[in-house]
Amino acid sequence: MQITITKSDKLKQRPDDSNLGFGSIFTDHMFNMDYNPEEGWHNPRIEPYSNIIMDPATMVLHYGQSIFEGLKAFKTNSGIIRLFRPTDNFKRLNISARALCIPKVDEDFICFALKQLLNIEKDWVPNAKETSLYIRPTIIAMDPFLGVRASNTYRLFIILSPVGAYYKEGFNPIKIWVTKNHVRAVNGGLGNVKTAGNYAASLYAGEEARKNGYTQVLWLDGIEHKYVEEVGSMNIFFVIDDEIITPGLSGSILPGITRDSVISLAKMWDLKITERKIGIDELVDAHESGKLQDIFGSGTAAVISPVGEIKYGKKVLTINNGKVGTMADKFYKAITDIQYGRAEDPLGWIEEVII
Ligand code: COI
Repeated sequence: MQITITKSDKLKQRPDDSNLGFGSIFTDHMFNMDYNPEEGWHNPRIEPYSNIIMDPATMVLHYGQSIFEGLKAFKTNSGIIRLFRPTDNFKRLNISARALCIPKVDEDFICFALKQLLNIEKDWVPNAKETSLYIRPTIIAMDPFLGVRASNTYRLFIILSPVGAYYKEGFNPIKIWVTKNHVRAVNGGLGNVKTAGNYAASLYAGEEARKNGYTQVLWLDGIEHKYVEEVGSMNIFFVIDDEIITPGLSGSILPGITRDSVISLAKMWDLKITERKIGIDELVDAHESGKLQDIFGSGTAAVISPVGEIKYGKKVLTINNGKVGTMADKFYKAITDIQYGRAEDPLGWIEEVII
């Protein structure tokens, strides 16, 4: 399929790289492609970034049939643009598509289209330390119809946003709030899928956490309200007595690509790492006995985010005196060094964008 390219005749003013924040600035162009049953995925095009005009009855607006990915492009000191594990993101997009009854995309073609888009937007990949170009591929249901069924038509788009740190704390410990009253997902539902509804389901508890001075929610399992699942926008890791523990992919947890990167690096370094159920009571006990050494989250947007405090009911657990832990620091450095080309890429995660 040939990608049609229409360049914008009015380029935006690019932002100051040193003060980017997350997710509010978008580049000049986007990639679009449509699906209908007669033509399949068709009309791939790069065109000026613009609004999507839709009928008020468009299904995605009513029933949330929508999936997305998040990945990043990085600029090395010598100006080369690199993608981190893009193939894994597009594989996961198709897993999400299946769960939401959305037609599969050709992973290689979408990755090629992304590289074409990056080629046009290369000057938008920021240069300042620890900044990147966040990439958001999304598929939405487009039928104008109010009955509940899978849509027949879809739009796939990719937008790009130059970003700095996801949290206002940057690479400093965040405080997380364990919610007892709400659940994010249950096994058999959509918790392991990157779909809009999971994030909608997280908002109420997220607001509750924020009102109480906490940055994110730590979710417990939906049945016993006992086992740790994940944090609002990240997977979670605990270091107890020199063992790194992360909740196993039980069916209601997002299979994060950064999560997988942490596990793979830990195995490569011969660290003790275990994927298993971990109860909130086990965490409290480990904290009380002085064995809880470190907690950190992992995600594309957040990379590695140290956790300095957990609030669970009346209990407040301060982790590592509220300072960045050794393991959080080690994984953050290793992953970002690979991403920015400051270190070798021992596990073959990087794809360069040839310009
Ligand atoms: C990511 O880490 O890329 C995410 O998708 C999480 C969040 C920003 C929704």
